[in-house]
Amino acid sequence: MLPHFDLSIKIVKPAFIVGVLTLSLVLAVLLLSAPTSPFYRTPLFLNSPMSKLDIWSVGRMVEWRPCKWWLQGHLTALPSKSNGFIRVDCYGGLNQMRRDLCDGVGIARLLNATLVLPKFEVAAYWNESSGFADVFDVDYFIQQLNGFIKVVKELPSEIASKEPVHVDCSKRKGQFDYIESVLPALLEHHYISITPAMSQRRDRYPQYAKASLCQACYSALHLTKSLEKKASELLEAIPKPFLSLHLRFEPDMVAYSQCEYPYLSPSSIEAIEAARGDRKPWTGELAQIWRKRGKCPLTPNETAFILQALSIPTNTNIYLAAGDGLMEIEGLTSVYTNVVTKSSLLSGEDFKSMHGNTKAALDYYVSINSDSYIATYFGNMDKMVAAMRAFKGMYKTLFLSRRAFAEFTSQGLSGKELTEALWKAHRDDFVMGKGSALPDCFCEFKL
Ligand SMILES: *[C@@H]1O[C@H](CO)[C@@H](O)[C@H](O)[C@H]1NC(C)=O
Ligand SMILES: *[C@@H]1O[C@H](CO)[C@@H](O)[C@H](O)[C@H]1NC(C)=O
Ligand SMILES: *[C@@H]1O[C@H](CO)[C@@H](O)[C@H](O)[C@H]1NC(C)=O
Repeated sequence: MLPHFDLSIKIVKPAFIVGVLTLSLVLAVLLLSAPTSPFYRTPLFLNSPMSKLDIWSVGRMVEWRPCKWWLQGHLTALPSKSNGFIRVDCYGGLNQMRRDLCDGVGIARLLNATLVLPKFEVAAYWNESSGFADVFDVDYFIQQLNGFIKVVKELPSEIASKEPVHVDCSKRKGQFDYIESVLPALLEHHYISITPAMSQRRDRYPQYAKASLCQACYSALHLTKSLEKKASELLEAIPKPFLSLHLRFEPDMVAYSQCEYPYLSPSSIEAIEAARGDRKPWTGELAQIWRKRGKCPLTPNETAFILQALSIPTNTNIYLAAGDGLMEIEGLTSVYTNVVTKSSLLSGEDFKSMHGNTKAALDYYVSINSDSYIATYFGNMDKMVAAMRAFKGMYKTLFLSRRAFAEFTSQGLSGKELTEALWKAHRDDFVMGKGSALPDCFCEFKL
């Protein structure tokens, strides 16, 4: 845990050997309690050039923690009368559905509605039907939301046979307010379903609605017992300590990004072409601008380069939190040789029969329990994992900067210069808690 331990021994004279342990402990206490310097927690005399520290050893000045008003806030009493029932309908991948569910709980509380268990509608590409109860523990969810919002498993008999009236929020353009635009429909129909839109006026939320959102998202979602059992088996099988790496270099992702990559293998090019549809990649100067804005997913090769720039040893145990569709993975595994995946660790029949959502849940679980987590993208899973890790006080979380990488390479930097520039950019992000902004439920805390 303390990489400085062995160094501390070197400065101890042989005569004091018996005191080594005590001194080391004293040093450890000093190191841990020393006021944070902007760069290293380590006193200068221990910071010898032969022991380049990895990114996690850099002293931080800011970290994100759950806001007090949510964790320790006084709960506002729930209204005695509910304005009706709301079901949140969620679509897309697991973490996108979860994001929408969190928002939906906030909206339901804002509208003083009673929450019905959400509908998890699974996108066609998952080819399966894991609903909410297949992934998350329903009773735990209800219990954790006690006092925040009323949740029911069963509808009252007079409306149980009805389908909710769907109120389409996605068509509402620009900033809008749920009280103005959705409450009337709720009062009229008593039972509605919504899919939250991203453009809502969350700034108008009273604190109790925000607190419900936070509680639902970060305290109330536990995997089902059976899924958690599978996930902890997987966690146990991974060599420790380990880094969970969320790599997103998949055909659909690359096609969607509209970026061009010059050095891909013919099979990758073919897979990307097949996923492109009418999204043609940018070319010429536009491609440059797009790339510099940080829009292009990092390749496994680029990822390996940045990890090395962050002094992450090449013998680090890495768990690849990703699907089986990764392209050009040799770019990573030729440098970082201790890489495992869930399909390499879980090969039983029960794993083969697992579906997209439940597999995504395994990656999520491992990533919120890994020693460190690095994301190459800023997607829904990354946001969710970063938030859960902050919630649990796990600070070794980092988003690689696609923007910095593109900027430096376009300036012509390479080799040692590029390494140094990447180190500085990521170090500064890590020190200031930047690049991992956690809005809404988390507050910046000066260390
Ligand atoms: C919800 O109830 C609170 C009191 O608990 C009240 O102040 C607020 O105006 C109500 N909002 C709606 C939309 O009914
Ligand atoms: C989808 O599921 C069906 C039935 O279980 C199966 O036959 C088919 O091969 C699956 N498709 C894919 C792409 O996994
Ligand atoms: C990435 O690919 C380039 C070009 O093929 C190669 O020169 C370089 O060594 C690779 N870097 C890593 C870290 O694998």
